[in-house]
Amino acid sequence: MVKSKTEYVCQQCGRRAAKALGRCPQCGAWNSMVAEVVAPKRGRGPKVEISQPMRLMEIEGEDEDRIPLPIGEFARVLGGGVVPGSVVLIGGDPGIGKSTLLLQLALVLADQGSVLYISGEESERQIRNRVTRIIHDGAPEDLFLLTETNLEAITPAIERTSPIVVVVDSIQTTHTSELDSSAGSITQVRECASRLQALAKDSGVAVFLVGHVTKEGAIAGPKVLEHIVDTVLYLEGDNFHAYRLLRSVKNRFGPTTEVGVFEMGASGMEEVTNPSETFLAERVVDSPGSAIAVTMEGTRPLLVEIQGLTSATTFGHPRRTTNGVDFNRLLLTIAVLSRRVGLRLSDQDVFVNVVGGLRISEPAADLAVAAAIFSSMKDVPLPADVAFIGEVGLSGELRTVPQLSARMSEASKLGFQRVVVPKIDLSDDLRPEGLQVIQARSLREALAGFLGT
Ligand code: TYD
Ligand code: MG
Repeated sequence: MVKSKTEYVCQQCGRRAAKALGRCPQCGAWNSMVAEVVAPKRGRGPKVEISQPMRLMEIEGEDEDRIPLPIGEFARVLGGGVVPGSVVLIGGDPGIGKSTLLLQLALVLADQGSVLYISGEESERQIRNRVTRIIHDGAPEDLFLLTETNLEAITPAIERTSPIVVVVDSIQTTHTSELDSSAGSITQVRECASRLQALAKDSGVAVFLVGHVTKEGAIAGPKVLEHIVDTVLYLEGDNFHAYRLLRSVKNRFGPTTEVGVFEMGASGMEEVTNPSETFLAERVVDSPGSAIAVTMEGTRPLLVEIQGLTSATTFGHPRRTTNGVDFNRLLLTIAVLSRRVGLRLSDQDVFVNVVGGLRISEPAADLAVAAAIFSSMKDVPLPADVAFIGEVGLSGELRTVPQLSARMSEASKLGFQRVVVPKIDLSDDLRPEGLQVIQARSLREALAGFLGT
């Protein structure tokens, strides 16, 4: 066998070199030379079978056969189930629950065929203990464990077990001996992922890769793999709250907007099938500074409590602190509250918090954020049965948001009697029965009804 060799390629200008260089001799960039495996050329003439173009109409198209996944919140994000031959990357901060979730996946899928769980991070014993935490006793017969980091040992193991699903935990600990760069480097991570991708395509096994989001952000983390794999999911949450959101950012076989909600419990990740109720469970009614927003997570509306607190600035600049809403949107909302509603916030510190550790990126929560700040400033609680939906514009106008009727139905379903929404033409069939819809043109008008501006 001809041994493949390693070359170094500048990531900036593409210049190749035989040795590792600190600086690119062509463009002068530092640390831009990255190792790459160059496959040896064998003989002459055409190396590949030439593929022929096909008529589109002659290609059979049927729905992908999916392996049903009994974890509903997970299946929702994947688009219904696991697609054989696909590669799914699950990214997330260390400790967020990736290994736990994938072990649970392995456990439930082992009923339908062999599953191979490969760990380069934990020992068999640690994994065994985790299994005991999740299912208490026993273990499915067809779940196989392998603690291995070398791709040259992993590939034959996959071929031998011929599983329906393989979990590789994590892609950063996996390495191939053909490259002399260390495990976790961009080259290693990319090379291993593309080989696993090829293996998945050839053999039809579905591969789940764990990718840690590294401190340096994009470097050698899940970002560099996004174009190689079929599906990219991120597990989000923080260490202070038990909620975890599984979000899809790329999916060749399903929607990219869906979100699965889980709660880290004593025996693994538990599905949260009624997230709104859960997020509102600890709400204290009749306390100033609390407002309910209705955000969309994928196709699912979610009611969350927004808390606002204002307190006189003791010295220097007034502070603005946010947890869960975009900082710049908060600044905008505060500016509109001062200029268009006449709320004097220039000598107030303002804190905004989304309860449950949730992060909201939608402007649709603007109105609720404004209402929470206003209510705290006036020290008057908002009625407990009102939810707020709407984006706030620079001139203080309320702007409409997508999927208004889905949001209103969710509020109504959870027992809210009133919603404040932007003024638009709203046909009667869009108004959920029994829900009082209060339409407002501006932020001022929206708040006046409750707090008297
Ligand atoms: P883990 O899945 O190891 O995270 P990752 O693979 O993303 O690094 O999750 C680790 C955390 O989850 C750890 O702090 C312990 C906690 N945990 C529970 O709270 N309950 C459980 O049943 C399990 C297995 C873990
Ligand atoms: Mg882990």
